[in-house]
Amino acid sequence: KDSLQAQLIRIYEEANRFYHQVLTQTQTGEKALAYLHERQLTDETIEEFQLGYSPSQRGALVDYLKGKLEDISYDVLVQSALFIETQEKELLDRFSNRIIFPITNHQSETIAFSGRHVDLEDDDVWIESSGHPPAKYVNSPDTPIFNKSDTLYNYAKARAQVRRQEEIYLFEGYMDVIAAWQAGLPNGVASMGTSLTASQIRQIEKLTDKIIIAYDGDSAGLQASDRALDLLSKEYFDLELVLFPDKSDPDDYIQKRGSESFLDLMHHGRLTPTGFYLQYYRQNRNLNNESELLEYIDQVLKEMVHVASAVEREVYLKQLADEFDLTIDSLKDQLSQIISQHRHQKIQEKYADKNTSSSLTQT
Ligand code: GTP
Ligand code: MN
Ligand code: MN
Ligand code: MN
Ligand code: MN
Repeated sequence: KDSLQAQLIRIYEEANRFYHQVLTQTQTGEKALAYLHERQLTDETIEEFQLGYSPSQRGALVDYLKGKLEDISYDVLVQSALFIETQEKELLDRFSNRIIFPITNHQSETIAFSGRHVDLEDDDVWIESSGHPPAKYVNSPDTPIFNKSDTLYNYAKARAQVRRQEEIYLFEGYMDVIAAWQAGLPNGVASMGTSLTASQIRQIEKLTDKIIIAYDGDSAGLQASDRALDLLSKEYFDLELVLFPDKSDPDDYIQKRGSESFLDLMHHGRLTPTGFYLQYYRQNRNLNNESELLEYIDQVLKEMVHVASAVEREVYLKQLADEFDLTIDSLKDQLSQIISQHRHQKIQEKYADKNTSSSLTQT
């Protein structure tokens, strides 16, 4: 008899086949398919990512699986987390009336789904019964085969390309990964709607040390970029970023400006972390106001503490000096002050760490 894990993987494989068939070959899936086509996804892309559609009849999946997996017990079906179990021990499809994105492991086996809500007519009923609009995305919960914080969307497919091109793109959304793939950028992954985890970083590290952060251009995306830079700059990665205009995300950008313009931006429009912070700290700030300008310069210089190259520092200091009519020497003075403060702080932290660890070992 197969292990629990192997049985769960068989269930997910069958479920994936079911959802994909419903999307691509049935009348039930027509509207969802039209929605994906409207979002410019080709049939080839839908095939490549094995996208699916979960019908709104919430018993359809379990009926299908019963015919395919006769040896699988009720208990294992419950453990798959594909269903919501009612008090009457009825299994209802967790994903109902959603576009299905299969999530795979390193062996390209399906281990979970994410379902995107589509604005189809059944939603009204849903809103009436629950009192609130449905979440945009619903993910499978963690199971014996799926741990959300260990998983990167599209990792298995991107892996070979990441090794070949010696760089990886980090996106925020599944749709961004897919649209980028269709536009000709196959080495992209996304975390599962959360900020990067240590385990995801370890997996990237095995493939490459060059990361291009291409998160959404809205304020949430910019904040996520800042957080990712904080995490990743501790790890000796070579980091670059791409900013998308007008709060757009990569998928929006491709739809609006086309693949060629997108690829050009991704290859030639990259910023260094300092270049990013020069933009980032400008948000919601009036730089004509003296105290806001000083705050801005202080924040940018603090980020420059991590810039190892003297030439790179000089480039940005010159840029700041020119834009705000300051002398490069005054900026240099302030930067060296910040650097020595930073060193001082690091030394103190180290010292404090040592004290606590030695007192721990003593007791
Ligand atoms: P589209 O609207 O289809 O283009 O999706 P998007 O990827 O642009 O969505 P958004 O920028 O809002 O979110 C980025 C990622 O966060 C998504 O791909 C999901 O992984 C995750 N996410 C967004 N909304 C939700 C939600 O309501 N619940 C959960 N669990 N995750 C979400
Ligand atoms: Mn197919
Ligand atoms: Mn977003
Ligand atoms: Mn987005
Ligand atoms: Mn989007």
